[in-house]
Amino acid sequence: MNILDGKKTAQFYKDTIAAEVAALRAKGSRKPHLVAILIGSNGASETYVASKVKACEQIGFESTLIRFETDVTEETLLAEVHRLNETADVDGILVQLPLPDHIREDTVTLAIDAEKDVDGFHPESLGRMLLGLPGYVPATPKGIMMLLDYYNVDTAGKHAVVIGRSSIVGSPMSVLLSRNSKPGNCTVTLTHSRTVDLRYHTLQADIIVAALGKPLFLTADMVKDGAVVIDVGITRMKDESLSKGYRICGDVDFDAVAPKCSWITPVPGGVGAMTIAALMQNTLEAFKRRIKV
Ligand code: GUN
Repeated sequence: MNILDGKKTAQFYKDTIAAEVAALRAKGSRKPHLVAILIGSNGASETYVASKVKACEQIGFESTLIRFETDVTEETLLAEVHRLNETADVDGILVQLPLPDHIREDTVTLAIDAEKDVDGFHPESLGRMLLGLPGYVPATPKGIMMLLDYYNVDTAGKHAVVIGRSSIVGSPMSVLLSRNSKPGNCTVTLTHSRTVDLRYHTLQADIIVAALGKPLFLTADMVKDGAVVIDVGITRMKDESLSKGYRICGDVDFDAVAPKCSWITPVPGGVGAMTIAALMQNTLEAFKRRIKV
């Protein structure tokens, strides 16, 4: 069993981005600028946004965190997004999800200028991905592809089973794995809550991507020997023995599944770190397009 070390790999990509930013700065360029909007005080969202801001600092990006109370109106939020769309030195805009119930996710996603859509959630970004055109790819599936690439995991002709069909992870993941590229060229099965006999499907899989958000869901009896297992889960589980009061739990029962795998991602230190690296890469891309490098 080999570990797909997301922390180490993310550091490699972040170092590469930092070197590119330093070279651009030496030529007199300004810093790439990412703006994150956070609504309310959801603990997990706070943690993710803090990691994004920290990564920006580490690699020489400017970052701005804009906070709104949970009861902010959709109108106020949209006005802020429109203002950022028009602000010349803002390269990337992200609105951290989930949103409060009274704010429509689709409306906010559509409001972000597609040129600054570094989350890759805008229909234009998703359409470009589907057509294989240059554009922003959602950070989690993009980060997983970067991880598979870094470790040179052989995916061509393999059967990949993706569990979960969310528009930000499972669905784009299925598209990327099936693309004619390296990594890619998989035969993909996209499974979801209405799939009959999920275990039947996962037992056929050479590659499993677990992205359903149910802690310890994927058990050893669902995995064939030699499989590659990617764990996208990051659920906070109560744990009074830790000072923070919780631990992060993946969708995979790591201890039982890992001995059967050829490759597996740990949680934490796997996909989460790669998501941040991929977001930084999207932001650098946005910056370079805007300054026409
Ligand atoms: N919530 C969970 N994942 C993400 C992400 O990649 N981007 C945003 N904006 N919100 C999220």
